[in-house]
Amino acid sequence: MITESCTYVIFGATGNLARLKLMPGFYHLELEKKLPEGTRIVAVGRRPWDRETWLAEVRAMLEEKAKGDLDDEVFARFGERLVYHRGNLDEAQCYSDLASLLSGQPQFPGNMAFYLAIGPGDFGTVIESLSRAELFKQEYGWRRIVIEKPIGYDLESAQALQKRIERHLTEDQIYRIDHYLGKGMVQNVLVFRFANVMLEPLWNRNYIDHIQITHAEDLGIGNRGEYYDGAGAMRDMLQSHLLQLLTLVAMEPPVAMDAEALRDEKVKVLKSIRPIPKSTVHAHAFRGQYAKGTINGEKVSGYLEEANIPANSTTETYAAMKLLIDNWRWRGVPFYLRTGKRMAAGQSSIAICFRHPPLQFFRDTHVSCMNPNWVLLGIQPDECIRIEMTVKEPGLEMRTRTTSLDASFRHPDERPVDAYEDLLLDVMKGDRSLFLRFDEVEYAWRIVDPILRAWAMECDYIATYPAGSWGPAESQRLFEKEGQFWRSSLMPECQS
Ligand code: BG6
Repeated sequence: MITESCTYVIFGATGNLARLKLMPGFYHLELEKKLPEGTRIVAVGRRPWDRETWLAEVRAMLEEKAKGDLDDEVFARFGERLVYHRGNLDEAQCYSDLASLLSGQPQFPGNMAFYLAIGPGDFGTVIESLSRAELFKQEYGWRRIVIEKPIGYDLESAQALQKRIERHLTEDQIYRIDHYLGKGMVQNVLVFRFANVMLEPLWNRNYIDHIQITHAEDLGIGNRGEYYDGAGAMRDMLQSHLLQLLTLVAMEPPVAMDAEALRDEKVKVLKSIRPIPKSTVHAHAFRGQYAKGTINGEKVSGYLEEANIPANSTTETYAAMKLLIDNWRWRGVPFYLRTGKRMAAGQSSIAICFRHPPLQFFRDTHVSCMNPNWVLLGIQPDECIRIEMTVKEPGLEMRTRTTSLDASFRHPDERPVDAYEDLLLDVMKGDRSLFLRFDEVEYAWRIVDPILRAWAMECDYIATYPAGSWGPAESQRLFEKEGQFWRSSLMPECQS
């Protein structure tokens, strides 16, 4: 696919996302010489800055990330592309000025991508204003818009937002980011499954006992209290990132590796997830909130002590759920998903637990450690694929241990690529494979909505867990069988 030069307009250019992900992402693309010639990056911000101040700001953002290791020559090249446009998102003038800036000067390519790195509550208004200023007219090049999750607050609000957006844009102009899909190891899940035939015959209910998907963070909510308290872990992580991971693990091979075929298969998975009726919400979902505790030897506050959190908040910072997929491949195999802030470690992984062999041959020997086989896909920070097997220990006695076959994702000299770099580039290429189609968003809301509704009714109690732990022990009750337990380590564990 050809990457055409474009004008990237960033709304919210001084916010957290731009600071931590977008500007460093663009800079790395510059470093790798991946930005097509002529590409311009226009920052829209409220502050009365001139170009020089903006350049100094960007430099500071990059230095913070690069820990002082910034290449002056690359930065000079990068700086040439940067433009600051002062404007208030609530005022029509911001958009009319932007339109005259972009249409009046030949240095701005006619292809334009508008990245809304702003609160989801403002998406509708900004899109309407851009449309009114005729910035979506595709006379002199394509016009695309990039929006971040959460798309809506529940199914109804997502549909209402979609109605507002589609008055001005067609589906192929809308890029809904789920940055998890840009992570190298997440893409590797597809390669692992569909470029190796070895595991395919085993990848189903006949051999797999259950599957776990975990995203744990040792960080708290930082300065995002206002947003987070209205969202909670279910909306912030499970409805989007973790359900996406589930679709990649569970989907059928698509007819082609193109955007529509891929997304068709993902939607099929979401559609096959058994709905959770109100009466069984407690058997399928668990929520918790971090209390104070210790992380890496440091004392940290509980959620209720964080800035901008109401003293009686019952917003969950931990959420877990059990899902069942009613199709031929997966019927009866539980998928357990969990996420939490202020957990014992920052770690994302997919753990696939295979069934025990049909007969326990070694029961009357010294064999004490008969673990099932696991396939472990470490997404971050450890990017790996491990297959755990039981082998005999050397020696005269019949003892066994668990060992793992390791395939690491990256060689030590290969640079990690941040998910955003890949996705920023895909927008320019017009490749929507790693972006969400609206029906994916809709079906994902359908799955979690009943849980959210039940939790909203229970506003006087939430279980807590000490910061620095693996979450509330009671969430163990989601497991169907005795031998099932949350798998937190990617190293062999002996469960005998
Ligand atoms: C974001 C969530 O979408 O993903 C954050 O809003 C979360 O709360 C983040 O911390 C996790 O992403 P990553 O790439 O740091 O694992």
